[in-house]
Amino acid sequence: MTSEMREIVEGLSQSQKTISPKYFYDERGSRLFDKITELPEYYLTDAELEIMQANVDEMAELIGETASLIEFGSGSSLKTRVLLENLDELAAYVPVDISEEHLYASALKLRSEFPGLDVRPVVADFTKTFSLPMPAIMPVKNVVYFPGSTIGNFEHGVAMDLLRVMYEEAGEGGALLIGVDLQKDPEVIDRAYNDSAGVTAEFNLNMLRHLNKSYGANFDLDSFEHSAIYDEDEGRVVIELISQAEQTVEVGDTEIELEDGETILTEYSHKYTLKGFAEMAREAGFNVERVWTDADRLFSVQYCVRT
Ligand code: SAH
Ligand code: AVI
Repeated sequence: MTSEMREIVEGLSQSQKTISPKYFYDERGSRLFDKITELPEYYLTDAELEIMQANVDEMAELIGETASLIEFGSGSSLKTRVLLENLDELAAYVPVDISEEHLYASALKLRSEFPGLDVRPVVADFTKTFSLPMPAIMPVKNVVYFPGSTIGNFEHGVAMDLLRVMYEEAGEGGALLIGVDLQKDPEVIDRAYNDSAGVTAEFNLNMLRHLNKSYGANFDLDSFEHSAIYDEDEGRVVIELISQAEQTVEVGDTEIELEDGETILTEYSHKYTLKGFAEMAREAGFNVERVWTDADRLFSVQYCVRT
């Protein structure tokens, strides 16, 4: 049994069955996520792009010349392009992602769009230890870029661990540029995770397809339904797959029993207050130096420096 299969079986053996959201992202999952970003209900991407476009000059000034830009969970590097078009003399761009094929295809595209840019993709699970490549040009500083509010997909303790890893990766004089989704009208959030075209449902179910294809599972996709509910008290969307029958599923040699109506937790998506995130950043050793929001204050991008 591979370590991933062990992790999957462990998650499915808990009283609240859980599968890590990193298993959303095979090639199909990455493409489905890109489709989500184009949905009219999914306000996050438009709001973050608006912020990047309106404030990129100031961001470029803060980042300065000859920095190394290290992106966690780069996906299609959509928002990164706004930075790449406006940053002077980057030492390197290092996209880090778990979705291997998608990352390499994205890196190839970037190399042709930005000839001369040192693009050094790293396939890694960023919640575990991994090493970064040495760029050809010595960077003046490292700037860790973590857009999309992917930080929100981790529970508080893991999110803190990640911020601490980013603190280490930023190094002395380095910084973190991070996208952080904000608390707002619950209906707006609810719609973003229950889109009318059903793409988010397809994305959620794709996790089971991925486990079937790559990790020896035999989930029947028709026996599960997508659910996403915003818990206002906790400030997070709870995304689950609900079993539509009493059933037994195999992952390798392990049998997992599910009751009719039982849930598998596949993802949280935390929404923050500016104050709440500033406290988390401070605890990890960062000072939030600059916060930009979109006109409707749906989303924020924050520049955090090491204290
Ligand atoms: N940054 C992009 C993509 C966000 S989707 C944007 O803002 O649009 C989240 C991305 O993080 C996906 O590309 C996924 O493959 C990657 N990802 C999720 N969990 C990961 C993990 N544990 N390690 C590495 N990459 C991960
Ligand atoms: C990647 N991450 C920030 C997305 C989010 O909004 O939490 C993943 C997602 N899940 C469902 N829709 C989008």
